[in-house]
Amino acid sequence: MRFHIMTLFPDIFNSYMGESIMKRGVEKGIIEVNVYNIRDFSNNKHKKVDDYPFGGGAGMVMTPQPIYDTYKHIIETNNIEKPRVIYLTPKGKVYKQSIAQDISKEEDIILLCGHYEGIDERILELIVTDEVSIGDYVLTGGELPALILIDSISRLIPGVLNQNESFEEESFKDNLLEYPQYTRPREFMGLEVPEVLLSGNHKNIDEWRHNESIKITKERRPDLYKKACK
Ligand code: ADE
Repeated sequence: MRFHIMTLFPDIFNSYMGESIMKRGVEKGIIEVNVYNIRDFSNNKHKKVDDYPFGGGAGMVMTPQPIYDTYKHIIETNNIEKPRVIYLTPKGKVYKQSIAQDISKEEDIILLCGHYEGIDERILELIVTDEVSIGDYVLTGGELPALILIDSISRLIPGVLNQNESFEEESFKDNLLEYPQYTRPREFMGLEVPEVLLSGNHKNIDEWRHNESIKITKERRPDLYKKACK
């Protein structure tokens, strides 16, 4: 899968993608991350990428020309036909695991990171296919949300995670939160690992874990619990 990122702050991506599981996915050739600096595509002699909003108001708005030309460059140089272009914005659809799963089926994804008071609305009409928010709070830009999408989507692509890092049993599978995990030692600061996990009886272990998942989901996320019971 190829991620193409349109941003004013390309350096943010290099350090994150150079670590741990993301790094491994890139080295194995399973994921590719191409970062494009929108400023490089500005026709303005001072490389300006923003301007005052028509109608007045606080802050600056990103102008359409550099964004549109970055987009054209991406689709032309990478031979992409009808790309999904995701604009990260607090006004978007709230992100969740099922959206990550849906996007993970694409070959190419373009992520558009906004800044300032947002981008010119005509860009949304012309090129954006999806608007995504990572939650009900406002950040200074779309870079952290873009990294969240890249991370959560990449780990769903076969080969990025090792077998023992499997995502088969994890939170949000079947709308349940994950059961508690324990490792050595058996006793820590007077707290014991639940007996059933030491029993070697896999039927009982599975049953215990399933019940714990239900209990924790009911307590913490009644909204998910309702869906899980459907
Ligand atoms: N840009 C600023 N805040 C954001 C959010 N919550 N989600 C996605 N993009 C954003």
